[in-house]
Amino acid sequence: MLSVKRFIKYLSYKPKRLETLFNVYQFEKEASQKLSKNIFDFFAGGAGEELSLRENSAAFDRLKLIPRMLKGIDSFNLSTKILGQNVSFPVLIAPMAFQRLVHKQGEMAVAKAASQHGINMTVSTLSTSGLKDIKDVSSIPPWLQIYIYTDREITKNLINQASNLGYEAIVLTVDTPFYAKRLRELQNPISLSSSLLINLVEAGLKLDNVDPYSLPKYLSSLISSNISWKDIEWLRSVTTLPILLKGLLHPDDIRIAVEHNINGIILSNHGGRQLDTAITALESLQMVKEDLKTKTEFIVDGGIRKGTDILKALALGAKGVMIGRPIIWGLAVAGEIGVSKVINILKEELSMAMALSGFNSIDQIDKDIIFK
Ligand code: FNR
Ligand code: LAC
Repeated sequence: MLSVKRFIKYLSYKPKRLETLFNVYQFEKEASQKLSKNIFDFFAGGAGEELSLRENSAAFDRLKLIPRMLKGIDSFNLSTKILGQNVSFPVLIAPMAFQRLVHKQGEMAVAKAASQHGINMTVSTLSTSGLKDIKDVSSIPPWLQIYIYTDREITKNLINQASNLGYEAIVLTVDTPFYAKRLRELQNPISLSSSLLINLVEAGLKLDNVDPYSLPKYLSSLISSNISWKDIEWLRSVTTLPILLKGLLHPDDIRIAVEHNINGIILSNHGGRQLDTAITALESLQMVKEDLKTKTEFIVDGGIRKGTDILKALALGAKGVMIGRPIIWGLAVAGEIGVSKVINILKEELSMAMALSGFNSIDQIDKDIIFK
């Protein structure tokens, strides 16, 4: 049922035609007008004073490019390989919870758009569509994002489900041992029916009798907060799939991860939603030693909103970038078509940024174009 506030917003909302939206920021503005305030704020918001959230994009904006000219560019090849998967361009969809709050098709719409573009999607443990349904519409096998729950059986069941379905990697998120203080959510909480969390319920989690307004926080209280590198070894013992760690930032942690033969590292401050004032993934990437980048694949996320952001991350040694909120804004505005349009905008902007910097394929991009 629509609340009165949401109904009034619905009546006064005049949708813009998709053809008039040219960049991710315009999608964000449109989504803010379309979604009810608590839902928009849940997706848009961050922790604390949202300093890391703002820094994520600002750090990309501060970095300047020194383009090369006269390189005879006439065609493009954006395709590349990330953790063994051939993708049409090096943008991946970040795991994000509760997508059916934004659009009735939720993750299904996102998976179909990703599929159409030949890019990878990581499905959140807190997804509101079934792992099998998502896999069935995916042209590139998705990855599953997990947490290590206090009840290890739940984690194991999720991993087994994903690996039996043909998911191709496990992404363990390590930056969320506790649910950070998020002001927008405290002031204006979302309510969520536990019946939406079908994968967790299928894995054996009992969610009856949880207050719908407390569900996001309750879910995070089930995560084992005292995990350490020993638990990474446990994870390795329960799956043969490649493992990525998501949420590392410190160079020492990165070195330890490489020593543990982790297949991929997603440098991330969780979109500014966990430790406020944490450095950005871009800054972390700049601190990674070159020899580590050759052994392990690095992906960065947080604040990536345009083609030049992607180019900068690749130039600094990332294999790919993950995109979070822009996908949500596309989903809110027009479901699958909206997500597809957002992906297309990023692809075209990346091509343009490459063309104007003197590159016609991903493997040519090098760090000499970054101004120091
Ligand atoms: C997230 N993120 C996230 N990460 C994760 O590992 N599991 C999850 O379930 C979620 N859920 C989630 C919900 C919402 C609403 C947001 C905005 C983010 C973090 C996400 O994967 C990614 O790290 C950031 O969103 C990247 O930053 P940008 O692109 O949103 O700026
Ligand atoms: C978030 C959790 C669900 O960022 O990862 O909201």
